[in-house]
Amino acid sequence: MLKISVIGTGYVGLITGVGFALKGHEVVCIDNNKEKVEMINNKQPPIFEEGLQEAMNKVVLSKLSASSDLRKAVLDSDVSFICVGTPCSEEGKCDLTAVESVSKEIAFALKEKKAFHVVVVKSTVVPSTTEKVVLPLLEGNSGKKLGEFGLCMNPETLREGFALQDFLNPDRVILGLKHDETKKVMEKVYENFSSPKFFCGFSEAEMIKYASNSLLATKISFINEVGNICKKLGIDTYTVSKGVGLDKRISPFFLNAGLGFGGSCFPKDVSALISKGKELGVKTLLLDSVMEVNELQPKVFLDLIKSKTELKGKKVGVLGLAFKGGTDDIRESRSIPVIKMLLDEQAVILAHDPKAEENMKKEFPEISYADSAQQTIDSSEIILILTDWNEFSSLDFKDKLVFDARNILKNKPVNYEGLSW
Ligand code: UDX
Ligand code: UDX
Repeated sequence: MLKISVIGTGYVGLITGVGFALKGHEVVCIDNNKEKVEMINNKQPPIFEEGLQEAMNKVVLSKLSASSDLRKAVLDSDVSFICVGTPCSEEGKCDLTAVESVSKEIAFALKEKKAFHVVVVKSTVVPSTTEKVVLPLLEGNSGKKLGEFGLCMNPETLREGFALQDFLNPDRVILGLKHDETKKVMEKVYENFSSPKFFCGFSEAEMIKYASNSLLATKISFINEVGNICKKLGIDTYTVSKGVGLDKRISPFFLNAGLGFGGSCFPKDVSALISKGKELGVKTLLLDSVMEVNELQPKVFLDLIKSKTELKGKKVGVLGLAFKGGTDDIRESRSIPVIKMLLDEQAVILAHDPKAEENMKKEFPEISYADSAQQTIDSSEIILILTDWNEFSSLDFKDKLVFDARNILKNKPVNYEGLSW
């Protein structure tokens, strides 16, 4: 059992903290947002995630506490995980402001500390950040050299909606590090995880994260482009992706055609890799296209709808606002460009989502929201399915005109059109 401090309690930080506490470590979660700290200490999850409430009931106060006192947390723990946000700037560059300020604060505490301490970067940072940005800040502000403290790059691979499950049972644990002493500590951190540990250098670990997310995003844009061709030929893309996915070299995963990818990771990570490539003078032809196909997909959907019906003044029911089922997160959700285009077409929108309505009301206060999916259907002439929520899969659409962008319906209603199936 180790004492672990986790800095930043967003999706990644909170799940990491609760996950390590469930695995038996003693955890302190640090955030400069005092409201979040109070919520955590009151066993109230600041985000919606399956199983998180039950897990927090188990570990908060016994194994896990939250505070804003970063210095004390570093002094009282063996390992500190940096999990603060790395949002994208306009040009797609990875914004390291929070990572830099937290690295400095950790270094000031390291200066006072005698015992060996390991700093772990878990936030998604572009390759060379750990070596060229974090390490100099730690050495420069602690007066210590690497080796007197440890440094590791340990990217997260959790999916929203399955975050706790993915954290506790990852396909692999990527550990970019330099020294044996650091390796020993990280093996102890993950001793209760049965997943394979993959050791490499700092930059390899950073690139593994970007390359993984970018390839998954590429698979999605690929099947969407093939899907658009299939649609013109009257072929069902899902039958095609099933056949393609039986090839072990391809695998059936992430070949679900639809409205495209959203969320806090894929769009941001592909953009950051493109901007890093450009900075290095590398042409990113493929990655540029992955983003372009993804940007175009909502328009492809609207064109399909407009080829079948008028939209001006029509009551359009929108089912699904979150970027995917199982989360309240609307970051880069594909529903956003669809709603924007519907408003341009002067449609009358009634929207519903099991979890994400409060978040979408901040984005579109001007549209109406329904309490249930059935109420949305009953009050609308045209229904759009934009997010893969299971609870939408067996609704009664009566004789309404239904346009489906996620192919989740068990039974296709009479007036039905699939985006590319
Ligand atoms: C973040 C990154 O955005 C993502 O790239 C990376 O893969 C994982 O971590 P997420 O957990 O979703 O993703 O971040 P976010 O929801 O922005 O939470 C970051 C938390 O850090 C916030 O609670 C914020 O209050 C906190 N924070 C930020 C600090 O405690 N100190 C700081 O200096 C900055
Ligand atoms: C992703 C990665 O899966 C995870 O490993 C990483 O740590 C963070 O980024 P997440 O953003 O939570 O996780 O969502 P994911 O389940 O990967 O879906 C991403 C987007 O792709 C969603 O908008 C989803 O609807 C879309 N998608 C996914 C498809 O359109 N088709 C698919 O076949 C799979």
